Amino acid sequence: MDDPCCPPLDHVSVEFQGRDRFIAAVDTAVAAGDQHAVTAALRNTLCALIRDEAVHLPACVHAPIVDHYARRELYRSPRHGYSVVAMTWGPGQGTPLHDHSGLWCVEGVWHGELEITQYALIEEAGDRFRFRAAGGMIAGPGSAGSLIPPHEYHTIRNPSPDAVAVSLHIYQAEMACCTKFQPQAGEWFVRESATLATDQAA
Ligand SMILES: [Fe+2]
Repeated sequence: MDDPCCPPLDHVSVEFQGRDRFIAAVDTAVAAGDQHAVTAALRNTLCALIRDEAVHLPACVHAPIVDHYARRELYRSPRHGYSVVAMTWGPGQGTPLHDHSGLWCVEGVWHGELEITQYALIEEAGDRFRFRAAGGMIAGPGSAGSLIPPHEYHTIRNPSPDAVAVSLHIYQAEMACCTKFQPQAGEWFVRESATLATDQAA
């Protein structure tokens, strides 16, 4: 039986204006070398692409979904394996504390603002993990940051009471599952495996 967490690699490609230009730029960045070089190159590339007037993400990425933040996969590279996911955050929508399954990721804000809080893992005991908030930031349009395991624990939230935010995430590979951490007392959280759903694009 297929593992629902690790589906076979399919080619995913959604049409949008400037798509070929976008893919060429990302392909160049992912060939930069080790994961530090690749994520640094991708941060610069993503910042430039957000400002590039020839690139327009598909209209669907501006449509929030009422009961959860939207994840729409726009492209998966058949050659490099990376996955490009657009996320749409309604007012106040956000994630629980989570990891990225050991994958590097570069995230850029395309529209609106997002609050990103990183957490440091202090200790663990079985399924219980102790985290401490290790810095937060408000990221505005045109900014990009990266997560390189093991420094991958974070939350993302749209702090606006009325505006939608859109972000673009380039993962090392398709991220079909991750670990979420549900808050308990104090700095302690309980680990919970999560399968990540993808919403229909276009
Ligand atoms: Fe994340």
